[in-house]
Amino acid sequence: MKEETAISLFEKYDLTRIISSSNAASMAVDLLVRQDAKRLLICMGSASANLPDSAFISFLRAMGCWKPEMTYCDNIPAEPATEDVRRIVKQMEQNDVEYVIAIGGGSVMDAAKAAYLSYQSKKDVTELFGVNKISSVTSASDFKRVICIPTTSGTGSEATPYSNIVDNESKVKKLIVEQAIIPQWAFLSPSFTKSMPLSLTVTTALDALVHSIESLLNNSSPDAPAEAEEWALTSISLIAENLPKAVADGNDLQARKALSEAAALGGMCITHRPTSLPHLASFSLYGKVTHGQAVAALLPGFWGYYIEEESVANATMKLAGIFSGEKETDASSVIESYKNFVRSVGGAPSPGELGLDKSLIEKISSDALLNPVKLQSSPRKINLDDASGVISGILEKAW
Ligand SMILES: [Fe+2]
Repeated sequence: MKEETAISLFEKYDLTRIISSSNAASMAVDLLVRQDAKRLLICMGSASANLPDSAFISFLRAMGCWKPEMTYCDNIPAEPATEDVRRIVKQMEQNDVEYVIAIGGGSVMDAAKAAYLSYQSKKDVTELFGVNKISSVTSASDFKRVICIPTTSGTGSEATPYSNIVDNESKVKKLIVEQAIIPQWAFLSPSFTKSMPLSLTVTTALDALVHSIESLLNNSSPDAPAEAEEWALTSISLIAENLPKAVADGNDLQARKALSEAAALGGMCITHRPTSLPHLASFSLYGKVTHGQAVAALLPGFWGYYIEEESVANATMKLAGIFSGEKETDASSVIESYKNFVRSVGGAPSPGELGLDKSLIEKISSDALLNPVKLQSSPRKINLDDASGVISGILEKAW
């Protein structure tokens, strides 16, 4: 079974200890008790009152582990900004925090990850933007890392060195890439994600799906472990099989569990073989459509461009039969099956079908130059000099 495969893959992943179990809440508490954890800060989102994390808090209370030195930092918004991170850091300073638990979706986890490093390194969050700004001068092992309890199954932030934060000063979303923020532990349980509404279930699962597909296609990371391909294929199969089940019945806990595992596997994948043009283009759609819907719609156009590379066409053929149940005989047909799958779960496999106006092409293609790292990770090489023209040509065709 793919779920068992996922758990055995987690066991061999040494960057984050990932536990997937219906008992994850009590296992997280056990960990804190064993470590005699004191001065705990729990970071939560704005809808915290309705989140199933109460299961976790009630475990803490029931086991007599709820101590006065445990504090909350709630109302962490979607798309957290530098000011939100600074607010969390302040609370860490006031409480001399020793353990940080992030209970929420990608935004909460990203904010907690950035704040914990900012607090420990005594650097403002804006000084962390970029790649390994801290880990390049101080060993990543000198820093304590966050414990994550994801309440969505999409970003995979529970297993990545990434944190996306909106820079209040420039109003631009910026990325922190730091070995020192890869979560130490991640506890996955369907009880944490079952309250997700249908639309959030779909959009977060599509994000995870695109992470794993982009990673599978990305052959530009020679240092990535060989297992990354198996992580991607397992993640994609889990989503293809279980997203339709979760759409049909939100209380299907087995499907929920599989989607959580698929999302964590997607995080493992992009840690080593990062995303490229579809994610790059999605940055320009921030605030217009959800991130998962954006990347799912942008993927087919860029995928069609990538498959001119033989290695990408070969990687694509590893997905033959996964989306349609019938083995496709060429890479273009696999992309068509992906598009039909996205439609079948209520998504849109092109920006036009998503209702986006074609006038956005100009912005997307000019914004692309602001993020050369993502251009460099394209599986089909793209020159910085003609990147805007190439991207706009791809989008014109795919819109
Ligand atoms: Fe994403």
